[in-house]
Amino acid sequence: MKKVVVVGSLNMDLVIEVDRIPKIGETIKGDEMSYLIGGKGSNQAVSACRLGNDVSMIGCVGNDTFGDKILKHLKEEGVNIDGIKCDEATFTGIATIFKTKEDNSIVVIPGANDFCNTDLIDENIETIKSADILIVQLEIPMETVEYALKIAKENGVKTILNPAPARKLSKEILKNADFITPNETEFEIIANKNFKDENELEESMIAWQAENPLTRLVVTRGKDGSSYVEGDEVETIKTIKVDVLDTTGAGDTFNGSLAHGVSHNLLISEAVAFAGTAASLSVTKFGAQTGMPKLEEVNKIYNKKK
Ligand code: RIB
Repeated sequence: MKKVVVVGSLNMDLVIEVDRIPKIGETIKGDEMSYLIGGKGSNQAVSACRLGNDVSMIGCVGNDTFGDKILKHLKEEGVNIDGIKCDEATFTGIATIFKTKEDNSIVVIPGANDFCNTDLIDENIETIKSADILIVQLEIPMETVEYALKIAKENGVKTILNPAPARKLSKEILKNADFITPNETEFEIIANKNFKDENELEESMIAWQAENPLTRLVVTRGKDGSSYVEGDEVETIKTIKVDVLDTTGAGDTFNGSLAHGVSHNLLISEAVAFAGTAASLSVTKFGAQTGMPKLEEVNKIYNKKK
């Protein structure tokens, strides 16, 4: 059992099902609304936990009903919640998700996630030091991300930075990230370029990887799979075919599962294939976390593909 520590966000997702995303200035009628537990941090923690890892989460919720529900849920999933602070002065993070059949758009109100500060990292430093791998995303303050990566790296803990939502990444951040896992849109922001086609994406990946040889770049590409650079070529691992119901949390499943693969010393090709299989399975159910697979479910398909 590997020790995974996730430093990141916890949100209540307000999922609004619509036929299409409204245009600016337009009012449309929605179909259904559901309250589901999410937040990139909490989703990644649950994903790694369902795969049988020993997962601890460090983050912040508000002292309200949503916070209580999230803590109860994570505990039931088996995630260690000792590192989650309940801040009296604020409210639990909320994500409003407009979900169509094909995709989704999300607006996040961080609330307590903005209080996930470096003091909280210091209070939980032993959890980070003793982990096999740390995962962090960008829905919490940047200085916390930077600090958590630094502590992990100094203590020989492997690190994955999921740069979502995307921002420019400093050299300081990158030097402590063993992996970064943007999707294509996020990679455009990181690389400071708009890709007209597949060729431009691949050229930018190769150039970025050459400039940052110590950080492994893995770009997630939805139904087109996931790509990484090997030598001076881009390798793409295709996804399995599934009936897509909800893509929310697919990237988070990928990251939680990549952490599983990397901490179990899989080769990059194996870890990416494993994570891609888990992410594909996750989109067959409604909600960010509902479809996150257990280890046996991923292995059934992943072992067959090998
Ligand atoms: O990655 C999906 C997640 O992004 C949602 O659960 C939502 O909370 C936002 O943080």
